[in-house]
Formats: sequence, C-alpha cells, structure tokens
Amino acid sequence: MAPEIKYTKLFINNEWVDAKSGKTFDTYSPHDGSVIAKVAEGDKADVDLAVSAAKAAFHRNSEWRLLDASARGRLLNKFADLVLRDSKYLAELESYNNGMLVNMALFLSERNALSIRYLASLADKIQGDTIPLDGDNFTFTLKQPVGVCGLILPWNFPITMFISKVVTALSAGCTVVIKPAEQTPLTALALVALLKEAGVPAGVVNVVTGYGPGAGTALTHHPDVAKISFTGSVEVGKLIQQAAGKVNLKRVTLELGGKSPLIIMNDADLNVAVPTAAYGVFTHQGQVCVAASRLFVQSGIYDKFVEKAVEFAKNRKVGNPADTAVDQGPQVDGEMMDKVLGYIEKGKKEGAKLLTGGKRIGTSGFYVEPTVFADVKDDMTIAKEEIFGPVQSILKFDTLEEVIDRANNTSYGLAAGIFTTNLNNALQYAKHVEAGNVWVNGYMMAGPQSPFGGYKDSGYGREAGLNCVDPYLEVKSVAISLPKKF
Ligand code: NAI
Ligand code: MG
Repeated sequence: MAPEIKYTKLFINNEWVDAKSGKTFDTYSPHDGSVIAKVAEGDKADVDLAVSAAKAAFHRNSEWRLLDASARGRLLNKFADLVLRDSKYLAELESYNNGMLVNMALFLSERNALSIRYLASLADKIQGDTIPLDGDNFTFTLKQPVGVCGLILPWNFPITMFISKVVTALSAGCTVVIKPAEQTPLTALALVALLKEAGVPAGVVNVVTGYGPGAGTALTHHPDVAKISFTGSVEVGKLIQQAAGKVNLKRVTLELGGKSPLIIMNDADLNVAVPTAAYGVFTHQGQVCVAASRLFVQSGIYDKFVEKAVEFAKNRKVGNPADTAVDQGPQVDGEMMDKVLGYIEKGKKEGAKLLTGGKRIGTSGFYVEPTVFADVKDDMTIAKEEIFGPVQSILKFDTLEEVIDRANNTSYGLAAGIFTTNLNNALQYAKHVEAGNVWVNGYMMAGPQSPFGGYKDSGYGREAGLNCVDPYLEVKSVAISLPKKF
C-alpha cells in the first residue's frame, strides 16, 4: 500500500502555506511514472518570506539564539527520537518518491538517526581559543553561527542529505531555508514536521519546495543568506559559486559528482572484490556520488574478473523498490533514465564491449538493466563523464604507477578504492590518488564521524567529522588590553 502523503505545502515560520503564486508541480513515483502528489511551487516571493523568517529567528534576542548550546543538542536528539519513531513511514515515503529500495531506506533510517545524534553532540563543543598575543593583551576567540543558510538538496538521498546539512547547520546555531530537489520533495516536508514537533522555534527551519531556477536561484542570490550548502551536479555547483559572489559574499560548501576509480590488483581476493565492485556501482541504481564508475582491473586477473562481474550483474533482481526481495529499483525519473541510456549508446558506439544489460526494462517506470562494459578505454565518454546509473565500466591496467596517473586524469576527485593485500601498494595509492575519500579492500565505508567531500571539481569543503560545523561558524578574535599595572 502506498504511504500517506501528509504534507505538500511550503513550510515557513512554522506554518504550512501555499506558494504566493498559487502554483504547484507534480511529483512522481519512479516505479510507474504516475503522479503521486501536487506540491507547492515556491519562487522568489516565497524565498523572500522564508529568509525573512529565518533572519528574524537569528536575531540576537530570539528564542533560538538565547537557547543554551546543550539545549540545542538535546532538541536535535529529540528530532532523532522522532526520526526513529517514524522510520518505517519515512523509509516507505522515500522509496515511493525516489525509487530507493525500501530495504535500503530502512537501513539508512537507523544510520540517519545516529548521524543526528553525532551532529547534535557537537552543539556544545563549539569553543574558541585563548591566544598569546604580544604586549599587554589578553585574547580569545568566539565561534559564532554565520547566519541564515540556504541548503539546496539533491534527489538521490533526500533524507540523508537533509539530515547531514540541516542538523549540522542547526548544531552550529544557524537558521536555515531548505530547497529540496524538485524530484523528491516529500520526505523533506515530513522531516521538517518532525523538527517542529521536536520544538524548534518558528523561523529556524523553513522549506521552500520548487525548481532550481526559481526557488534555488532566489536563495543563492538573496542578500540576507550568509551561506549556501549544495549537493548536486558540477554544472550547478559552478553556477552556485558564481551566484554566491554576485550580491553579497556567501560562504559556500559544494558536494558534487565524481568519476571514482576503483583499482583491483592481481593479488586481490576476487570473492570479495567482485561483489564489492558491483555494490560500488550498482547500489541505489548507480545514483551515488561516490559510485565506482571507473573499475581498473590488473591484467593478470582481468579476464577472470570480467567473467565473474558479468555473472554477478546478471543475477541482480530488478523490480519494484517496495519489494524487499529486489536488488535494484528504478532510476529517479525519465530524464535520468534517458541520460543513462544515452551513455550506454555512446559506450557501444565508441567501441566498448557490452557484455550484459544495456536496455530499459518494460515501458512503465524508469528501470534500466544492470549493465557491464569491458575493454573500456580512458578517452571514451563512459570513462570520463558521470553516468549516475547501473553501468559498470571495466578498464585494464598493468602497473600501479600507470594506474595512479590514469586514476587522477580526471577533473573529478570525490572517492577512490583499491583491492590489494600489499600494504605498501595500498598506502602508496591512498597517498597519491586525488580524492577526498579512499577505501582499501572495501567500498563506501562512511559515517558522520569521518569527513566527506571532494578534491578538484568534486567539491569544496567537507561535511561530517568533528570539524563539520566550522563552515557554519565565524571566528571572532577579541583582544583585551590588560596592562601589568594594577
Ligand atoms: P542539479 O545539480 O541540477 O540539482 C540539484 C539541486 O540543485 C536540486 O535541488 C535543483 O533544484 C537545484 N538547482 C538546479 N539548478 C539550480 C540553480 N541554478 N541554482 C540553485 N539551485 C539549482 O542535478 P540534477 O539535474 O538533478 O542531476 C544532474 C546530474 O547531477 C546527475 O545525473 C548526476 O550526475 C549529478 N548529481 C550528483 C549528485 C551528488 O550526489 N553529488 C546528486 C544529484 C545529481
Ligand atoms: Mg539539473
């Protein structure tokens, strides 16, 4: 049975409101392409209202600013309790609107609640230094929230991304306006209802659903927004960095795409490496920023690896994400499905060897077969551009020296992996690969405790980890003249 859709309006100053224009947009089920709700289409007028509510909530005398840091942490822990209480509903709604396997959404619910608790625990550990300044001076630093933050979310992990950005900003003491992705607005609205229930004061958290050009651009150009945090495409990341310097000087955190290399050395345990490499690229239909989308296999095991990888892909069961026996669900929408199918055609045309998959499944919904290409060359489009689909591209290499240069020969730098039992090879690779996250003999090991983000065009700044609140803070040096005479 489809989960109930409780919220479809904008959330501004703790109230559910229609867009000023009265407009709505359709949101879909990726399983069959049907319209499941009409959601308020926010625009500049609505963003202006949301930002002014967030600005008022940030005033030095507001309830939020006067709250003790530890109380802020406790309030966010209450939010974690509510996310756990509603975890089944949230997982079903995520699956319904996004196409994420319900199993995966349930697994992530537990992890998301732990993330909230970790991030909440940072609230009362934000503290400055005392500094030995020359002369008769006593100096200390204050770390203070930057102000109103615009948080622009992607559609691939709507709940996880909401939590990572919103809870970090709130833990730092900021107020926020959230712009969920137009494909997946529903869980953001369900989550903000839980923040209200947890007792977040009016204006601290606002959600304006709508499109990128519209709600998104209004936020990135707003003079009263102090910071933007964005996850999405490199193309839009660049636009955001430009917009951030147009009207005022916004601080920016960008978490963008990747073309992450995974290296399989001759000495790797194939019983682990084959399924992990598959998991690295097929998980969540390949719609993962760290997807292992360039799989470099050493020549000594290449043929054997390819054979096993094809067998693994062929055994993946594709179907309705609400079915707990399924391994792969649909792509998020028709546009993304067509993009993936377009890359597959390019791969074939440019001479990569298609060994399994390659086609759409059925005619309703946005399903793509698990696809494996071998004999992929570095200059082929499928080896260069982010596909964001269930497409494994296998390339051959001879030496680690050679493959490190090839791995780094990209404008991306989000993640990287290596399978080897040779410690020196693993550490040399970890040292020299240009990526913000490196995994050895595994893939996608991550959590709120560990910094996450990209080198090069994969982003700017880090999320998660002990220092994740820093980009939401300003540092103020206070020097007090303290003459020795008294
Ligand atoms: P996108 O970057 O266009 O959208 C992400 C978010 O940015 C959405 O909320 C969107 O409404 C907003 N947005 C779009 N244009 C904007 C603008 N000019 N100003 C402010 N906000 C704006 O990504 P899209 O089109 O959904 O996906 C395209 C590709 O991006 C994917 O195929 C994938 O390669 C990559 N991507 C990477 C993600 C990641 O996790 N790093 C997540 C989503 C997409
Ligand atoms: Mg886009």
